[in-house]
Amino acid sequence: AGTLGAAAAQSGRYFGTAIAAGHMSDSTYVATWDREFNAVTAENEMKWGPIEPSRNSFNWSSADQIVNHALSKGMKVRGHTLVWHAQLPSWVNSGMSASDLRSAMTNHITQVMNHYKGKVFAWDVVNEAFADGGAVGTLRDSIFTQKLGNGFIEEAFRAARAADPNVKLCYNDYNIDNATAAKTQGVYNMVKDFKARGVPIDCVGLQSHFGNPPSNYQQNIAQFAALGVDVQITELDVGGSGSTQADAYRRVTQACMAVPRCTGITVWGITDKYSWRSGDTPLLFDGNYNKKQAYTAVLDAL
Ligand code: XIL
Repeated sequence: AGTLGAAAAQSGRYFGTAIAAGHMSDSTYVATWDREFNAVTAENEMKWGPIEPSRNSFNWSSADQIVNHALSKGMKVRGHTLVWHAQLPSWVNSGMSASDLRSAMTNHITQVMNHYKGKVFAWDVVNEAFADGGAVGTLRDSIFTQKLGNGFIEEAFRAARAADPNVKLCYNDYNIDNATAAKTQGVYNMVKDFKARGVPIDCVGLQSHFGNPPSNYQQNIAQFAALGVDVQITELDVGGSGSTQADAYRRVTQACMAVPRCTGITVWGITDKYSWRSGDTPLLFDGNYNKKQAYTAVLDAL
């Protein structure tokens, strides 16, 4: 196959990109998206702050622009993200009581999932809840841990399942790529516990914002899959350039391809010129939409 999406589809997988609605006036951006990718994640437009800027008042237009375009082209849509400590609207941080925050969180999850019911195939229900340091299982300090305690993750997943019984519910994070790292083990233990107790969870997202993927990356994907969840590479970008970058992209792609429950890869943008990693060139197309070595490495590995 001659495109990333078509190549991924040969094994029943998808190959997606993050899209920013603000760049959709760039016709080469949209043409490259349509040609190469068969899935999408809104880069910012579905986050709590942008989509519910004041309480129970929703601004769907930018996210809808991305979703409607994607669906008109037959693409899959990942929902990103319902509960995250970052990019929150200011009203969420303003000294709410626990019960008020709990009802705001449940309402947010319910309203957003209802709006995109049947359109989104998977939701990042909770994003980046685990801390980077500390003992296995340590959560990041946030308004959610402070007010609701560590059980907020479970509460969010239960509310999500109540809102939509048919969509895949994912936990998504970065630095959970090394199979033996403490942060990875914390997420692993949570998924195992959720599965054992019947807390609804269907997938784990490995963001994969890399310098270099760890050598046990494939083993890591396999260990999550063995718990009975799908694994998706959700925000892939690799700093650097040339053959070193291409090799890293190849290894990531091969690792996903080697694990049947690794169901898709999403890169965090199309072109280096719009990457969130400013000053770096971490994507598959350069600033002029030329295919890079990394592009060819991925295409060959799919
Ligand atoms: C980033 C976006 O790319 C930026 O445009 C924005 O300013 C900040 O968020 N982890 C995530 C993504 O889950 O939502 C983040 O996206 C990158 C890190």
